[in-house]
Amino acid sequence: MIIILSVGGSMVNPGKPDQAYISSLSQIFKNSPHSFGIVVGGGKLAREYAEGERKKGKGEFWADLAAIRATKENAGLFLSHLRGICCLNICDDFIQAHDALQKHRIVLMGGTIPGITTDADAALLAECIGAKRLVNVSNVDGIYDKNPAAHKDAKKFGTLSFEKLVSLAQVQDTRHAGGHFIFDMLACKLIARSKIESHFVSGKNLEDVKNAIEGTRHNGTVVR
Ligand code: UTP
Repeated sequence: MIIILSVGGSMVNPGKPDQAYISSLSQIFKNSPHSFGIVVGGGKLAREYAEGERKKGKGEFWADLAAIRATKENAGLFLSHLRGICCLNICDDFIQAHDALQKHRIVLMGGTIPGITTDADAALLAECIGAKRLVNVSNVDGIYDKNPAAHKDAKKFGTLSFEKLVSLAQVQDTRHAGGHFIFDMLACKLIARSKIESHFVSGKNLEDVKNAIEGTRHNGTVVR
């Protein structure tokens, strides 16, 4: 089975690369019988690269291109940990990743085109290769009925329908400053239209990451 992972940039590179964390995540991939398309986010590095372009007077398109470079650098952090089982190129697009998965058990990607995020890239990669399961690994441990950072009484969902996910994204995505939803709207709509079972787990809980990959019970949220 091919599993798609969307790994938050802040998990692998919170300021400097967290090699110990990257190594333990890589161990899960190595020990698994599955194939993986792994899409890595930009985190702080992407924000710095984008800001650098803006300071030079460049527009958002160019800021995004710089941020994409950061996502690929973060994806590259896995290469030395997955030697021998992983494609050595960080794929630039979905077809490339699709083709690379014919030859390699693990394929790495960062961002692709300006204007989207690596959540959407992960969902598009899942569609491209016909993957039936996606795992979102971030520093949030599931999907809540309201922003858990702002509301102490926010409740986490164990399971969620695709329709409910899209409506939650709609409500929470439109709120301003800092409180953006766990998965962006485009990504939500893509997994909904293709009915890709998606698991949202805390990257810090490696047991949960393992269980999500296997499609078994975990402490996060399953969208199906
Ligand atoms: P991320 O997907 O990492 O966004 O892409 P994020 O919301 O900051 O996620 P975290 O913090 O890693 O969890 C970083 C930036 O790279 C650009 C966008 O500017 C995005 O905000 N990007 C990424 C693109 O323009 N296109 C892509 O395909 C991916």
